[in-house]
Amino acid sequence: MTPVTLCYGNVLGPLLGPDRGPDPAALEAGGELCRRFEAAMAELHRRREAGELGFLDLPDDQALARQTGELADSFGQWFEAVVVVGIGGSGLGARALAEALLGPFWNERSDEERDHFPRLYFLENADPDTTRELLDRLDLRRTLFNVVSKSGGTAETLAQYLIIEDRLRSELGEEGVRGHLLFTTDPSTGPLRGLAGEREVPALPVPPNVGGRFSVLSPVGLLPAAVVGVDLDQLLDGARRMRDRCLTPSLRGNPAGLLATLLHAADVDRGQRVHVFMPYSDRLRGLALWFQQLWGESLGKRPTGSGSSPRRDPDPGAGPSPGDVQGPGDPGGVGPTPLAALGAVDQHSLLQLLMDGPRDKVVTFVRVRERDEPLPIPRSHPHRPALSRLGGHSLAELLDTELRATVEALRRGGRPSLTLEVDRLDAHSLGELFMLWQVAAVLAGALYGVNPLDQPGVELGKRLTLGLLDPGGEEGDGPPPDDPQWSV
Ligand code: PA5
Repeated sequence: MTPVTLCYGNVLGPLLGPDRGPDPAALEAGGELCRRFEAAMAELHRRREAGELGFLDLPDDQALARQTGELADSFGQWFEAVVVVGIGGSGLGARALAEALLGPFWNERSDEERDHFPRLYFLENADPDTTRELLDRLDLRRTLFNVVSKSGGTAETLAQYLIIEDRLRSELGEEGVRGHLLFTTDPSTGPLRGLAGEREVPALPVPPNVGGRFSVLSPVGLLPAAVVGVDLDQLLDGARRMRDRCLTPSLRGNPAGLLATLLHAADVDRGQRVHVFMPYSDRLRGLALWFQQLWGESLGKRPTGSGSSPRRDPDPGAGPSPGDVQGPGDPGGVGPTPLAALGAVDQHSLLQLLMDGPRDKVVTFVRVRERDEPLPIPRSHPHRPALSRLGGHSLAELLDTELRATVEALRRGGRPSLTLEVDRLDAHSLGELFMLWQVAAVLAGALYGVNPLDQPGVELGKRLTLGLLDPGGEEGDGPPPDDPQWSV
């Protein structure tokens, strides 16, 4: 089993052009990037010792994985459909995992083709069209709702829950409500935990020191994976092996260290602050969205500590709180802009911008070396070169060739990219990828001088929403209505 490999030559000066990327000497002991990395590693170890990085220990938590697997087994026999209800970190990881491992048409497969594992749906948004249509289509007698919320208090998720509870009660009676629900939430606090105790709804714990976007290897991701037969041991083994690689103190041997250090340097040293994540596999579209949330919510904020980012707040300790009215000279916080893309589709959408637009981007590609079925392209139409030259190859080969050509075209233009190479999309490699980016996010947080584990900027929007829904309530009033003079 070949581990996930990070190819990073195409961000460095020798391949890109001396002014276009760092000198490799900067990565060696005593070099500038190595020094930054070592400071970031020290901060990671400090946080770990303070007990803040629970996600690093999830691969070793056999008891939690067993508890989750057993619950999934006991439910799996009864239900034809499982609906995961959760948003942000409580939905994106499980969806990424399912899309990568089940493929695009799992829910269209027959019972036999699914080996009698349930169909799997995700309700993330508080969008009435999606929610109503899904609930109308499901046979509620054979459906399990896994309501996922670390805090147990997220408005979108709780609103969906109330609608689901009401439907279950009216179709199946009070007993049906309990038997068709499973919560995943904090082990002791929050509204969902309280409800679980009161209503005797089974509830899996999310360890208190595991935050939303770092929770995919906790029951948040494990339960949905287990109900459709994903091998949790393989997933966690991949994560464990990658974690160990990512804790190595040598930068050149540490894939998360290289990702974080090179992407941070691209931003703060060269102004490449748009970080594009572009896998060449439909199955990894969900992973790109998961990355986008992890990178954006972990790194986009006002610095609080000592990072190596030159763009940090001039007086970090006394920085204004998110949502405070800022003065005209306020430079804002730090953080790259992550952008989820998909190859080869976005070659016909974003590539022109990547090739010829501002030099403010760095792309991370993901290459999958082996496919279940490469799908040969038939040889035909010998007199039509546009068709005949494709014959004898395969779709897998075409996609891979397009990826390699795109990397090279960018390189010739002096535009940086990294490539993550994955042998196969299986539970092991997914475990590796999740752990790799989570460690990279923590290291990048240290480099930017921010706390990668919080999301204070999200709070103001939540408070204003609740203020509008419940004027005069404990969250205060919402925003004033739009002024008609500025509408057309
Ligand atoms: O990463 C995060 O912490 C957030 O994106 C949360 O996952 C998201 O806001 C949902 O929160 P909760 O799991 O508490 O419902």
